[in-house]
Order: sequence, then structure tokens, then C-alpha cells
Amino acid sequence: MKIIRAKDYNDLSRKAANIISAQVILKPNCVLGLATGGSPVGTYAQLVDWYNKGDLDFSEVTTVNLDEYRGLPRTHDQSYWYFMQKNLFEHVNVRPDAVHVPDGSNPDAEAACKAYDQIIHDLGGIDLQLLGIGPDGHIGFNEPADHFPLGTHCVDLTESTIEANKRFFGGNADLVPKQAYTMGVGTIMQARKVLMVANGKGKAEIIKQAFFGPVTPEVPASILQMHPDFTLVGDEEALSLI
Ligand code: PGA
Repeated sequence: MKIIRAKDYNDLSRKAANIISAQVILKPNCVLGLATGGSPVGTYAQLVDWYNKGDLDFSEVTTVNLDEYRGLPRTHDQSYWYFMQKNLFEHVNVRPDAVHVPDGSNPDAEAACKAYDQIIHDLGGIDLQLLGIGPDGHIGFNEPADHFPLGTHCVDLTESTIEANKRFFGGNADLVPKQAYTMGVGTIMQARKVLMVANGKGKAEIIKQAFFGPVTPEVPASILQMHPDFTLVGDEEALSLI
């Protein structure tokens, strides 16, 4: 496990974008596992900036996103598909048929999850997986549980996740979907490289628990302690307790 201390959110975003950018330069046809949420927004903005300057080329890159709300169509402005279009895909030359997000509009959870695992399998797995971390230690939507789920599955969101995400639904928790399809912890652990971005005081306690406490499915991110190539880039606040 490598921990990189960034001065602030800008610095964190540039450092994370540098790591992703190195991956794309070293392997132009790489598979990038991508994440939504507030944490990676600056990273994506930096990648777009470098793309606009001619320093990055996504034409051979394939992407697989971590998760999607169950029941939201792609066109919904809070779907993760939409988030990715607005924050990255619309601004770079990634091929539209090379981007993958679980199909939240498919009500058949088993079929949707199986299809997603098949896509990842057919791509030969993930070269670099970008992650945020939830206040309860979730990665993707893998919430605290009594085991580490392996493949893509349907989850019930915890109260704390619904609370954390209601800011995107006009502050109304009732509007936050209650289920999601998420890549499993097994798939994340099989990524050849894992990069986590974490910023702000609100992440300090969980960062300490996840990476300096026991490895337990009660704190899903803690399993990353066992990943052979895991890098955490955090700002001063997120790393203030370690
Ligand atoms: P955030 O979410 O980046 O918006 O804090 C992280 C997560 O829930 O994984």
C-alpha cells in the first residue's frame, strides 16, 4: 500500500490524474475502472485539461464503471452514466461503444449483473481501478457486510450512504434510489492497479479504520490493504489521523 499526501484537493486531483495518465500512456488500450462521486471530479477535470492540450489520447481506452443506481435510466441527471458523460466522456475522445456502466434501467438484477461481469471478463479484467471511499468504508456500493461479495450484484444502500448522497437529490433522502448494481469486491481486488482518492475531514476517521485497522467486510475498503498495487492519494484533511 502506498499513501501519497497531497496538499489540497487540487494537488490530489493532479496527482491522481498523473497516475491515470501514466497508465494510458504506458498501455494506450488499457481498461480503466472508473468511479463517480465528488472525490474524482477534479481528477476528471485534470484529465480533460491534458486531453485538450494534446497530452492524452483515449481513443483506444475502454472503461468500466463501478456502479449504477437500480431504477434510474441513463438519461436521469443523477444516473452514474450521466455523471460520467458530463464529467469525462463528452470531453475526451473515448469511443462511445468503449464505455460501460451497469444497466440500472434493467429491472432484472440477476441478468444485469451477469451481463456486467461478462463484459469485464471479456475485456480481460481491469488495468487500473479508480475508487472513492464512503463514510462507512464502502467501495463502489459494496456496503459493510458479513462477507466480501465477489462479482457484480444488487445491493440495498445503507442509511449512511443514502444520507451522504441526498445532496445530489435536492437534499431529499426519499428521492435517492434504495438499490444499486455494483461491481463486487472480488472484481475490484482483481484490478491490476487500484487508485483511491479521498479528501476532506469527513474521510479522516474511515481512512484510519480502513487502512490501519483490521481487514474486515465490516469496512469493505480494508481489504485493499492486501492488494499488491494499491495507492491512496489523500489531502491533508483526509490523512490527518494517520
Ligand atoms: P464521494 O463518494 O466521493 O462523493 O465522497 C465516495 C463514495 O461514496 O464512494
